[in-house]
Amino acid sequence: MDVGQLKERIAEIEAGIAANVCDIDTADALRGLETAVLGKQGTLGSLVKTIKDYPPDQRGHVGKVVNDAKGRVKAVIEQRHRELEAADASADAADAEAFDPTLPGIREPMGSVHPVTAVQWEIERIFERLGFTVEAGPEMETEYNNFEALNIPATHPARDMQDTFWLKSGMVLRTHTSPVQHRAMLKFGAPLRVIVPGRCFRYETIDASHDNTFHQVEGLMIDRGISIPNLIAMAKTLLYEVMQHEVEIRVRPGYFPFVEPGIEIDMNCQICGGAGCPTCKQSGWLEILPAGMVHPNVLEAGKIDTEEFTGFAFGLGLTRLAMMKYGIGDIRVLNSGDLRPIVSPDRLGGPVIAGQVGSGTKR
Ligand code: PHE
Repeated sequence: MDVGQLKERIAEIEAGIAANVCDIDTADALRGLETAVLGKQGTLGSLVKTIKDYPPDQRGHVGKVVNDAKGRVKAVIEQRHRELEAADASADAADAEAFDPTLPGIREPMGSVHPVTAVQWEIERIFERLGFTVEAGPEMETEYNNFEALNIPATHPARDMQDTFWLKSGMVLRTHTSPVQHRAMLKFGAPLRVIVPGRCFRYETIDASHDNTFHQVEGLMIDRGISIPNLIAMAKTLLYEVMQHEVEIRVRPGYFPFVEPGIEIDMNCQICGGAGCPTCKQSGWLEILPAGMVHPNVLEAGKIDTEEFTGFAFGLGLTRLAMMKYGIGDIRVLNSGDLRPIVSPDRLGGPVIAGQVGSGTKR
């Protein structure tokens, strides 16, 4: 090729590079291009070898033409290198700007504790201070534990007081937490102080104050010389601590086969202040704490020496107490999807972990 053709060829190569270099966006690809053009086998680089083929008087000129072209291409490639580096640096800077470690974090919405759970935890703490331990028992119970051991034989009319869900196996969904009295007596013997928070089930027609699933806290204290005044003192302390103010109570006789005598401790309705409302059925009072002295038959079934020991028991209506405390007028709200918080979870200490009476786990 003569010098004219050579110059055309070089112009073509340079035009091709100028047209494409802007599309190359990695340093590796750019180095690839450099080799393909300027390398010994490259489109321009390989022209160096042809210089010697020109007549001696042209070689100097041809050499200059080729080298000048190589120089320009090198400059174009270096310029593109600098552009890529600058783009990388500004992307890094943008990233650094997007992450500002001094900004406050985004607060995720936090769940809250169910009102019944909140009152349960509080009650567990109150009774712990009074020397009680927290126990738990199964929600599916034997007929014997739910009834017989509590002085309610099969023919006893009191069985009708508790509308029971019977399971095909002959077991029951416990209708109260009282069966754990029996379990605790067998497990620990006397003297004994336990509370048992738990879910109970009854075949009830649901209305504003009845649900088929509700919570109780059973309490049992067995020792030498226990009598009704201990029970009443304990009830007053409990209600005072939960409500954080003095609560008026009244005591009525009540009947439960597993206590003798049996009493009902009512509290002044906290929804209406005693004036009368649907929640207290216009009476101004709410049955909150059925209780009594443990029946000797129950102590005996629990292998407690009735000559030496007496005890009181109560079955606190936990669901009802939570409703009183938080001014919830309708029990159905509690098992609904109502997520309104009653108290922030970090203000509550968390549960006292209950042992399973009868399953061998002890706290
Ligand atoms: N278990 C009784 C009930 O659910 C309540 C109760 C417990 C009464 C302990 C007296 C003593 O109706």
